[in-house]
Parts: sequence; structure tokens; C-alpha cells
Amino acid sequence: MGRITIAIDGYSSTGKSTVAKQLADYLGYVYVDSGAMYRAVTLYAMQQGIISKAHFDTSKLIASLPEIHLKFYKEPSWNKAHIFLNGKDVEDKIRNLEVSEFVSPVATIHEVRAKLVAQQKQMGLEKGVVMDGRDIGTVVFPKAELKIFMNASAEERAQRRYKELLERGEQIKFSEVLKNIQARDHIDTTRDDSPLVKAADAIDIDNSEMNLEDQFHTVLQLAKDRIAGRV
Ligand code: CDP
Ligand code: CDP
Repeated sequence: MGRITIAIDGYSSTGKSTVAKQLADYLGYVYVDSGAMYRAVTLYAMQQGIISKAHFDTSKLIASLPEIHLKFYKEPSWNKAHIFLNGKDVEDKIRNLEVSEFVSPVATIHEVRAKLVAQQKQMGLEKGVVMDGRDIGTVVFPKAELKIFMNASAEERAQRRYKELLERGEQIKFSEVLKNIQARDHIDTTRDDSPLVKAADAIDIDNSEMNLEDQFHTVLQLAKDRIAGRV
């Protein structure tokens, strides 16, 4: 078998993007962080005053969608592709807790999903892609040759994300991070459009007790087997 499509879904902070990126680098595939696209739409809505702590104007956000242009671009010296929102590199800005607080409600909006899913499908036309998110194996690439569904305990995931945010210099409490992760888990799994659910043919990986290396080798072996047509 030639190049395949790899879909990695699962809960927040399970290590999806880390393993997806490692896999893409190893195989010479393109890595696409679909969550960055939902985050960039959210950032746009925040910047335009369409959403804030005080209000959330769904109709205005839907009407603004044609003005939102997303692109991934990688300089040779960068470790991964950055996401550009209307020509501006927003890779760093989309990672703060404020964006994390609004992103899951934004991701429930059907029109937002339709726009981003269409772009994601385009990016996978040539195969040789590893995409991570919540609905990649169920909606974006239902025919992906390899589907992984990742999970870990909420406490462990919140610890991982808390450490990352502290390293970014955010003044934040562990309890806020845990609350955000639990709130997003709830919204992502209960929304009507493309909820976070394991595809019937996805392979479950719980990495609560796995380090990054073990997790990578587990997924790489699965990918090699698929590429060689062994399973
Ligand atoms: O912070 P984390 O890496 O867990 O999340 P992310 O992958 O950056 O995604 C942020 C949010 O975008 C998720 O909590 C979902 O609400 C939404 N999302 C989605 O609905 N569908 C996707 N394919 C990817 C992300
Ligand atoms: O993409 P997702 O939100 O699923 O997770 P990530 O951004 O790849 O990983 C979140 C954080 O957890 C990163 O700092 C990873 O290095 C860390 N992590 C870990 O320490 N051990 C794992 N088995 C998986 C992730």
C-alpha cells in the first residue's frame, strides 16, 4: 500500500497533536492540527467583538464566516506549520485559556463546522496526511486507513495542560485548567453536530500511564502495519 490517511481523535490534552506530528515527521506526511482551525475562528470572533464574556452572537459569527481565511504555512526553521488567520500568524495567540474557554461553544455551530470540514477534506485529497481533532475518523476522513482514539484521565490531562500554560507564562490555577478541560469534554461529546465519539473502527489508546515515547512507538507500529497492508 502507498500513502495512507491517519485520523487521530480523542479528548483534550491526550497527546493527539504530539503523536500526530511525530508520526507525520517520521513518515514524511503532512500534519494538520484541525483544532487550530476552530481556535482561529474563535480568535477572529473575539477580536471582532462578536463573542465576549458578556455576549455570544451566533448569527453574526455565521455571517462573518466568508471573511475568515485560514492557511497553514511552515518556514523551514519552524518545528511545525503555523496557522494564519487572514494572513496573520496566530499560532501562539490561539493557545491561551481565553480562546480555550470559547472554542467549544464556537465548534458546536453547524456552519462553522461545515466550512472547516470542507477545507480539511481538501487537505486530505492526496493522502499522506495525519490529522488530529474530534471528528476526523467519523466525519472528515471516514475512510481513513488508520484511526486512533486517545484518552487519559481528566486529572492527568489537566496536569499536562497546566504545565504547558505555566511554561507559556500564563498566571493560572490548576483548578481553572481542569474546569476548562471538563467543560470542553462535556460540550464536545454532547453537541448535536459531529460529537466527539470513537469511530467503530478506531483503535483505543489510553495513555494515562504512557510517556510520549511509548505512545509514539505504539502508534507508529500500527501505522507501519497499515502501510504494509498487514492489517
Ligand atoms: O486543547 P486541545 O488540544 O485539546 O484542543 P484542540 O485540538 O486545539 O481543539 C480545541 C477545540 O476545538 C476542541 O475542544 C473542540 O471543541 C474543537 N474541535 C472540534 O470540534 N473538532 C475538531 N476536529 C477539532 C477541534
Ligand atoms: O493535542 P492534544 O490536546 O491531545 O495533546 P498535546 O498537545 O499533544 O499534549 C498535551 C501535553 O501533554 C503536551 O505538553 C504533551 O507533551 C503532554 N503529554 C505527555 O506528557 N504524555 C503523554 N503521553 C501525552 C501528552
